[in-house]
Amino acid sequence: MPVILAIESSCDDTSASICVDGIILSNVIANQTIHQAYGGVVPELASRVHQQNIVPAVAQALSVAKVSKNDVNAVAFTRGPGLLGSLLVGVSFAKAFALAKNLPLIEVNHMQAHVLAHFIAEKKPSFPFLCLTVSGGHTQIVLVNDYFDMQVIGQTTDDAAGEAMDKTSKILGLPYPGGPLIDKYARLGNRDAYKFPEPQIPGLDFSFSGLKTAILYFIQDNVKLNPNFIEENINDICASVEYRIATILLNKLKKAADEYGIKDVALAGGVSANTGLRQGLLQLGEQYGWNCFIPQMQYCTDNAAMIAIAGYHKYLKGDFVGQDVAPLARMPI
Ligand code: KG4
Ligand code: ZN
Repeated sequence: MPVILAIESSCDDTSASICVDGIILSNVIANQTIHQAYGGVVPELASRVHQQNIVPAVAQALSVAKVSKNDVNAVAFTRGPGLLGSLLVGVSFAKAFALAKNLPLIEVNHMQAHVLAHFIAEKKPSFPFLCLTVSGGHTQIVLVNDYFDMQVIGQTTDDAAGEAMDKTSKILGLPYPGGPLIDKYARLGNRDAYKFPEPQIPGLDFSFSGLKTAILYFIQDNVKLNPNFIEENINDICASVEYRIATILLNKLKKAADEYGIKDVALAGGVSANTGLRQGLLQLGEQYGWNCFIPQMQYCTDNAAMIAIAGYHKYLKGDFVGQDVAPLARMPI
């Protein structure tokens, strides 16, 4: 019955989770609102707020799980990829806790953990499956052969899907992070109101920078004609942008499913919280007889429960690291 304490601090959410024998008992997430004023995550501020949040987040995770810190058997933490200063806070905390209690340390790759979040729920995908991992920093189609045997078969050549959401919302004058707001307005709009281009990128790769530029020019041109264009049409703009981003993602996922002959298909990462994308995947699933897997909302955006479940599967393999481990801003899957 291994009890694992997991820590996630790769970007702007400080999170702690307790997992007992592969079951998540708590998942505490402390969001940082300070970045809203800057229109994006400010790395130096993020690491300072992580320092303030990490001890209370861990205390709460233990308390919600009704687990004493003396009962913890191993400490799992996000080693990378992410912001170095943010990662450093989580890595240092995990190392200190493990040192004080003489516990093994388990390093976790944040992008693998997004994929492994699917093993929290009772209904689990079977290997091999495809996972479309879409976040603020990444857009990948991952061929998942086993828990820690993953291959990126398609990825963005420029911006990530979440970045496209956030940059569009910035153009529209909405606060950061814009993805959830685009989702909210899109529910009230007509997705066919405006046609944005679908980039013609070969293979399974993505590109979002051309779309971002097209949206910028579209907004600038229309605001010149009508200064109230954004306010009057925000729902239709968001619905049309969301629809284009979702179709770009899902068309490539369909291509990958065909090429690899795979019918277990999953979504992961912050953008998988998006309603249009979730609905689109389910529709494709119905059409092509796929088994679709979409994580619960709390396991879509950054969270320590996914680090805990990844840590649990590494614990079973005895895959531990020493106290000399350091964070990695870049860490391939
Ligand atoms: O995985 P995540 O929490 O952090 C990273 O590792 O990047 O993903 C954050 C991204 C942001 O770009 C945010 O705007 C986007 O996920 N996001 C959404 C929604 N919720 C979060 N995008 C669209 N619709 C949403 N509902
Ligand atoms: Zn993430």
